[in-house]
Amino acid sequence: MTVKEIFETMDYGPAPESAADALAWLVDQGARFGHFINGEFTSPADGFDSKNPANGETLATLSQASQDDVDAAVAAARKAQGKWAALGGAGRARYIYAIARLMQKHARLFAVLETLDNGKPIRESRDIDVPLAQRHFYYHAGMAQLMESELPDREALGVCGQIIPWNFPLLMLAWKVAPAIAMGNTVVLKPAEYTSLTALLFADICRQAGLPKGVVNIVTGDGAVGEMIVNADVDKIAFTGSTAVGRKIREATAGSGKALTLELGGKSPYIVFDDADIDSAIEGLVDAIWFNQGQVCCAGSRLLVQEGIADRFHDKLRARMDKLRVGNPLDKCIDVGAIVDPVQLNTISEMVAANTAGKVHQARVDMPEGGCFYPPTLVEGLAPSDALMQEEIFGPVLVSTTFRTPGEAVELANNTRYGLAATVWTENVNLALDIAPKLVAGVVWVNATNLFDAAAGFGGTRESGFGREGGWEGLSAYTKPKTKTKPLEKLIGFAGEGAPVDAVDRTAKLYIGGKQARPDGGYSKAVYGKSGALLGHVGLGNRKDVRNAVEAAAGAKSWSKTTGHLRAQILYYIGENLSARAAEFADRIDAMTGKKSGADEVEASIQRLFTAAAWADKYDGQAHGVPIRGVALAMKEAVGVIGAVCADEAPLLGLVSVMAPAMAMGNRVVLAASEAYPLAATDFYQVLDTSDVPAGVVNILTGSHAELAAPMASHLNLDAVWSFSSTDLSAEIEKASAGNLKRTWVNNATAMDWSTDQTRRFLEAGTEVKNIWIPYGE
Ligand code: NAI
Repeated sequence: MTVKEIFETMDYGPAPESAADALAWLVDQGARFGHFINGEFTSPADGFDSKNPANGETLATLSQASQDDVDAAVAAARKAQGKWAALGGAGRARYIYAIARLMQKHARLFAVLETLDNGKPIRESRDIDVPLAQRHFYYHAGMAQLMESELPDREALGVCGQIIPWNFPLLMLAWKVAPAIAMGNTVVLKPAEYTSLTALLFADICRQAGLPKGVVNIVTGDGAVGEMIVNADVDKIAFTGSTAVGRKIREATAGSGKALTLELGGKSPYIVFDDADIDSAIEGLVDAIWFNQGQVCCAGSRLLVQEGIADRFHDKLRARMDKLRVGNPLDKCIDVGAIVDPVQLNTISEMVAANTAGKVHQARVDMPEGGCFYPPTLVEGLAPSDALMQEEIFGPVLVSTTFRTPGEAVELANNTRYGLAATVWTENVNLALDIAPKLVAGVVWVNATNLFDAAAGFGGTRESGFGREGGWEGLSAYTKPKTKTKPLEKLIGFAGEGAPVDAVDRTAKLYIGGKQARPDGGYSKAVYGKSGALLGHVGLGNRKDVRNAVEAAAGAKSWSKTTGHLRAQILYYIGENLSARAAEFADRIDAMTGKKSGADEVEASIQRLFTAAAWADKYDGQAHGVPIRGVALAMKEAVGVIGAVCADEAPLLGLVSVMAPAMAMGNRVVLAASEAYPLAATDFYQVLDTSDVPAGVVNILTGSHAELAAPMASHLNLDAVWSFSSTDLSAEIEKASAGNLKRTWVNNATAMDWSTDQTRRFLEAGTEVKNIWIPYGE
């Protein structure tokens, strides 16, 4: 092409980045890699090839880790952990900072290697993946520095097993490794089998930074190696990947006491209102769905566009698609690179081929020959229930539909089992900020999309998983409270056969939807005091009662929308009403437990109510200063409906300690009262009745913990299930929770110290952080 022709057509010429240094690095390493264990690379063993998806060429051979390799990595991490934590935050910060500096120094090598291995355009690896990975280490070097002063009550979990996917190989590594080691943990990380090379380069960087041996260990291999890590002697599993595997990991770790965070799939809505700046929204869409070939968990893959502008918008969109450049990922002018592997390419092609609905437009662009390429694709006019509207495609395929009103947009946006991210385009700030809280998503971008930063937590709700990565909230997933735990023994109430102490047969009912309700099964059990005196009867709730209680709680949705100020007043009122009957409650507790601690327990319960009330309008969010022209509002939202099996040993305080902070944050609760000593809870109904608690906000069931916990854990309309029962229900609850991936908090048969106020832990567990990115400033 002559210069004249270039000026006439304004076509881009190729501008390929050189692969020479990255290929030379691979050759230097012998193009065969072992694992990185205890600060050294092991000898390469049998394994598999890592290929460049853009041309099918083999880049290197990787080793498939054996059980012995995983065990050795875990042992090295275990051995290193104590010393690493004892080094203190400032000591660790030095190393993490050194890693960040070295990553910066080798940025070009990282970027080219990533692009060769993954197929993503060099522009993206150079300008997004690698700088964000560095930023994560810088940010967390700071978090290590501040740990002792800002998180004085937290400590490292221990050894963390980390399993990451292939879409952002280095960035996902950074998201996992940086906060973990900052907080004093050591790690065993497995990169995805398609894309392990930058993780191995990172291992080399750790060596260069002089990181103590065993702090970071990297083993390569497929899902079988992932399973070995999940089952190994680790204290936490952090996983990013498919919802199907996330669910398996939830089941596999159930009852093991291992902490777990899951960052899973999505089908994120991209909502364009009729007053949006259409050209910006179209460019945003290019970043939403064609960034990284759509292989992004939070990709804006579902376009919802307001009817009045739909035709114009789609016309412009198709025209823009036809201008996208698909090709050699190393070319700096390329918009869309290669799909990671033929297997993924096949999945995408099959999903699109199987679809018969809507109208398909595939970008009319030059497609490269050979390699794993798929054209940018739009499927218009789908119905909400169509498979492509519901299933994650994880490829450069956008689906779209239209809406009429903002309300309808929210309804369509939330019509998914996922809840990772959402994008809103409108020039009307009122509309954007009205819609953002209504979207079920962990992240909302306003007039922008796919923005990430270490300071703003990232993570989802519903089947997109739980836990946040980044920000202060991300640190709680790599730390635990510094409390000492002791085993909790099963408590059973006293036996007896005496006559009722007050000679009146009182069978306490259940408390559902603000009313006392007979248990569905019609059964009750007697409750006796220490000397065998009959104190009363309580109903035995069953599965049906749990369903009714969840329905009542779900119906009390408006509680979440009330102000903290109002919730505080109601909590104070409950405290006041409990205080008025303190002596009666204290006697009741003493009679049931045979101890003399009732008065203290009632007093502590009143304090707990007041503390939760105090927090109701103060446990609020943050505004993160992110390095873009914007601000990320970290808003604390109620989890929703929480089912909790309350402590046996503290019949009133155990219940109030859970209920009050959950209510304070706008949750509704279904509580299973102390099984051993249930009567304090049943007496408490009247306190609730006289305290203006709206019907359905608090529901209380009595009966067998095991029988009540099972339907709670599997109930699809419960958002979280907690258990502090003296019956160890941890394994059952965590396993059954995999259905809708609800949040769980179980005690693994260890005792909570109810006399210590742990309200903050309950406030944290009762909220989800939603990061809303809005334009701000210049
Ligand atoms: P995957 O979930 O199977 O793989 C992610 C990681 O988990 C890899 O390191 C893999 O080796 C490991 N793994 C696989 N099975 C495991 C097991 N049983 N126990 C422990 N670790 C295991 O994802 P895959 O198969 O590569 O992609 C399939 C689909 O998953 C994609 O089409 C996409 O829809 C989704 N996906 C979502 C991601 C996200 O960021 N949300 C990332 C990657 C894939």
